[in-house]
Amino acid sequence: MTPLDIVILAAGKGTRMKSRLPKVLHRLAGQPLLAHVLDAAAALQPRAIIVVTGHGAAEVQAFCAAYPLHAVQTVRQEPQRGTGHAVQQAAPWLPDDGVALILNGDVPLVEPETLRQLIALASDDALALLTVDTGEDAGAYGRIERAPDGAVRAIVEAKDASPRQRALTEWYSGVMAAPARRLKRYLGRLTDDNAQQELYLTDVVRHAADEGASIAALRIVDAVQVAGVNSPAQLAALERACQARRAAALMDAGVRLADPARLDVRGPLRCGQDVEIDIGCIFEGPVTLGDGVRIGAHCVIARARIEAGAVIQPFTHIDGGDKGVVVGPGAQVGPYARLRPGARLDARVHIGNFVEVKNSRLAEGAKANHLAYLGDAEVGPRVNYGAGSITANYDGVNKHRTVIGADAHIGSNCVLVAPVAIGAGGTVGAGSVITQDTPPGALSLARGRQTVKADWVDPARANP
Ligand code: UD1
Ligand code: MG
Repeated sequence: MTPLDIVILAAGKGTRMKSRLPKVLHRLAGQPLLAHVLDAAAALQPRAIIVVTGHGAAEVQAFCAAYPLHAVQTVRQEPQRGTGHAVQQAAPWLPDDGVALILNGDVPLVEPETLRQLIALASDDALALLTVDTGEDAGAYGRIERAPDGAVRAIVEAKDASPRQRALTEWYSGVMAAPARRLKRYLGRLTDDNAQQELYLTDVVRHAADEGASIAALRIVDAVQVAGVNSPAQLAALERACQARRAAALMDAGVRLADPARLDVRGPLRCGQDVEIDIGCIFEGPVTLGDGVRIGAHCVIARARIEAGAVIQPFTHIDGGDKGVVVGPGAQVGPYARLRPGARLDARVHIGNFVEVKNSRLAEGAKANHLAYLGDAEVGPRVNYGAGSITANYDGVNKHRTVIGADAHIGSNCVLVAPVAIGAGGTVGAGSVITQDTPPGALSLARGRQTVKADWVDPARANP
């Protein structure tokens, strides 16, 4: 097997994005464009991955250094004189014995299987180009020019194309595979006598053809795989296309989506059987939905595991952050609930509207149905936590824990000043501010007594 070295072009300014952020760090389906490209590259298990950086180099380099799936080397292109100039910067790191695969950092959805087929077409004396032909106008992409016998002759950039060439509908995706030795030779011949006064990588094709090398084209019809992102409009269009694919894959697996066009999946989403998802939901990071889970409209769910039979009512926000969130089997959450990192709900827990739970475990059957806060708390089974009650878990410096024993009943509008423990089976009267531990089974009250003045006269009525 010929060793594979991958070069990803990511130095360009992305002028048409009109953004401070380097183009390749703009997000598609929750991940930077470059992360999608790196994932496809890493899946091929190459010898090396080299990213060419320039605009926003510090940010792009930091991103590459933290990439988890493969070592990523970066080389700097300064100034940015075109895609050919970019590959020239990587050339010293492309050993002669390898095949070089060139990927554009702004072409995010290319699939590893397609790349494998392309690499198989590149040999000692053949270049291989990934091209697309949908029969429609090729827009700003480079046109594939073929000789009468069908052999690829050149790639002509849109800005350099004659009217006849502009009408060609087959275009270059920005992805090519070439034996490194030949590629480096052709790179040495690039000139900038073109409309953009740049060194075009695409001109290596002309030089290869001049030398009589063969040029294979893997022509596909799936424009989504090779769509480039050059503007916010293209990014948004590709986002929809990407989401449509994810929705289709979920439905293929049996997930029932109220409307596949109103779903956003921005990380791995694993679903069991008979999962239903209503409109307008967003899933981020790894999310698992167990058998029979129902997600109501307009929920945002990130980094969480929702177990079998749980129901998440509309407008609920769940974000597991670095600690994760677990919603146990048969639990009910929302509408308008908020689960934050470290929330752990056991079986059949109920969390109602405007209830916030952070870093707290609620044991089986516990309920907090209205307008409440539970932070850093351990809540026993079947506890009923009243409307408007909160754990005062933060003293301005440290966080403290609240422990509520099994079957305890916390009345409405209580403040449990942590650290504090409420004994099992106890009751805390409504409106109490609890600062001391309470024994099991006791009734604890900590509030002003009611005064009633029956013979009171309203001064306003006494002196009209
Ligand atoms: C390029 C191709 C075009 C193809 C299209 C597919 C060239 C000359 N043209 O055009 O044929 O149809 O991709 O999407 O290659 N970059 C650098 N350094 C530079 C310039 C660009 O690293 O000096 C990087 C960019 O960051 C980007 C990629 O190369 O990731 C492509 O550059 P871009 O300017 O978007 O080229 P296109 O005009 O899209
Ligand atoms: Mg581009």
